[in-house]
Amino acid sequence: MDRNMNRFYILLNILTFAAAAVNTGSHSLCSVATFVVGETPFPEFTVLMMLDDILVTYYDSVVEKTVMKVDLQLNEENQKFADMIFGALHVEMRDRANFLKRHFNYTNGVQTEQRIECCELLSNNKPGGMKMFDAFNGLNGMERDYNVHRHALHTETKWPIVFDTVKLEYNKKLYAYFLHPVCIEALERALKELKNHIFRKVKPRVRLLMKPYDSGGARVSCLATGFYPRHINLTLLRNGQPVSEHLVSGGELLPNGDGTYQMRKSLEISAEELQQKHNYTCTATHLSLDNKLDIHWDYDPGPPIAVIASTVLLVILVCVIAPIAGFIVWKKRRVVSRTSSQSDYSAASTTEEKELEDLKN
Ligand SMILES: *[C@@H]1O[C@H](CO)[C@@H](O)[C@H](O)[C@H]1NC(C)=O
Ligand SMILES: *[C@@H]1O[C@H](CO)[C@@H](O)[C@H](O)[C@H]1NC(C)=O
Ligand SMILES: *[C@@H]1O[C@H](CO)[C@@H](O)[C@H](O)[C@H]1NC(C)=O
Repeated sequence: MDRNMNRFYILLNILTFAAAAVNTGSHSLCSVATFVVGETPFPEFTVLMMLDDILVTYYDSVVEKTVMKVDLQLNEENQKFADMIFGALHVEMRDRANFLKRHFNYTNGVQTEQRIECCELLSNNKPGGMKMFDAFNGLNGMERDYNVHRHALHTETKWPIVFDTVKLEYNKKLYAYFLHPVCIEALERALKELKNHIFRKVKPRVRLLMKPYDSGGARVSCLATGFYPRHINLTLLRNGQPVSEHLVSGGELLPNGDGTYQMRKSLEISAEELQQKHNYTCTATHLSLDNKLDIHWDYDPGPPIAVIASTVLLVILVCVIAPIAGFIVWKKRRVVSRTSSQSDYSAASTTEEKELEDLKN
């Protein structure tokens, strides 16, 4: 897996947290920018544009071009606009990161500044506000919250950066007349043109697995994977009753490499409990399923064939299919990246994700 993808997953996780509070009907367009001070194999500056959890564009300081990551075209004008905005953001974050590095007396090592800025379209299709978070080495140092209805800009700054009244007024206007309308327009267009991605429904594959321990106990796990969108309710039941949440571990939503998600919930059972031969069930509800999906594991005598069968399948999958698939994807990606680096960038997309940036103050 290439490094950018790795990085992308880390950021995606952050975003997933950020979006967790957002209800299903609303949508967001976010720029996720990273500036790295110090020697690393990464470009010093990268920006991803995300429509909900879909990667739309990628920009970095090596190529200095906005590259579409979905099947859309940027026209020449929008390409220039996006490149200019991201270029300005690069300069701003470089100055900020170097200033903070000196301020915190870091002499060497690697420091990272990360900034997320999002606008939102509410479930009634009305534009919501904009939020920005800026963090240095993982510590949040600056937040901005633009309320479009009250035309109010709330800022919170922990860094020694002064916001005088003049700057605040300037920033308010910047949001009102530039950042907010540009972001909302891009969000609306992206939603329309990417509706096949955003509104797709992919069913979870759900399995109930048991892993016996030498001590005589076991771990029962309910695994749902390959689903989209990310909202899922996964419940472990014992004899038809939900198992109390504090006994259940896991439950984190994790991204798969292919734009789908997985979730696992596990229960440790003791040797005594195992002897009581309870029935364990895993229930999933998801947008893609008409009814809830129940996966049973009846504690019947004899080895649980279903579990063995799926284990065998899993082994085949991991040992045989996954490497082949991985190879194919890798080859494809090489071809794609070769073509995209050769293509001239005059053809390009309509969703430009201009975005956000409080350019230079
Ligand atoms: C950085 O070093 C200077 C001088 O040694 C000191 O006055 C300052 O408090 C230090 N700053 C931090 C954030 O540690
Ligand atoms: C588990 O389910 C089976 C049939 O599905 C039933 O015969 C058995 O009594 C159940 N056991 C418990 C402990 O509920
Ligand atoms: C999960 O459960 C909650 C509460 O019962 C419900 O409001 C929500 O729609 C469910 N989500 C899914 C994806 O089924």
